[in-house]
Amino acid sequence: MNKWLESDRCLVIAHRGASAAAPENTLAAFRLAADLGADAVELDVRRTVDGQLVVIHDASVDRTTDGTGRVAALTLDQLRRFDAGRKFGPPFRGERIPLLSKVFEALGGRLLVDVEVKAAGVEAALLDLIKKMQMVDSVLISSFDAQVVAHVRDLAPEMPAGLLQSAADPYAAVSVRATAYLPEVTALTADVVASCRSHGLRVITWTVRTEEEARQALRVGVDGIIADDPTLIRKMLARLKTSP
Ligand code: G3P
Ligand code: CA
Repeated sequence: MNKWLESDRCLVIAHRGASAAAPENTLAAFRLAADLGADAVELDVRRTVDGQLVVIHDASVDRTTDGTGRVAALTLDQLRRFDAGRKFGPPFRGERIPLLSKVFEALGGRLLVDVEVKAAGVEAALLDLIKKMQMVDSVLISSFDAQVVAHVRDLAPEMPAGLLQSAADPYAAVSVRATAYLPEVTALTADVVASCRSHGLRVITWTVRTEEEARQALRVGVDGIIADDPTLIRKMLARLKTSP
């Protein structure tokens, strides 16, 4: 565990960075999340053909950049030529697909980083990087793949790891010794939270985009909310604090 996951506050986690206002999974989006007062950023990690860990959601670069091709078939040099900001808007022209190490460097332990592993096989390299950069106390590893979560827990029991799910089955997280359970907001119920509590699991929900979803998450008492717009969640938390 770490200070964020032990906190009794509800964490505001910027999904792919502050992706409502900046291009997803870019340094611009991560810096903006920090400026907007997020506690954490969520990002997606994949490996290039030459073994570099890069931050991008899709298996291909086509949707978010001006390039084409599969991340797993491109070298870091090839990937870095693509513009990852231009499609979002002219002010972001020149943003690149970042190396995970550069995101760690930019955030420097100021925010928690939720690293979602999109494809199995990167666990050992990811843990090496986290240890080398002294980020063990500032990272949560998450994945939809239960085997990835189990592998992380085997390789590094000190490393918090969470299981992502769309249809809620918290026992799946218990069975891989996860630290956290991350149900989609549409599957989040008071029963799910109660079941997680009884197994000592932190509960973080995703991806909250409306006030109603945020209200539901706060009502059932989650430990963290992953949102495209961290400001929306910050405002709602502030309102709750001031209401009688
Ligand atoms: O961390 C939760 C969320 O990021 C999972 O969905 O598709 O945005 O990676 P996706
Ligand atoms: Ca993700």
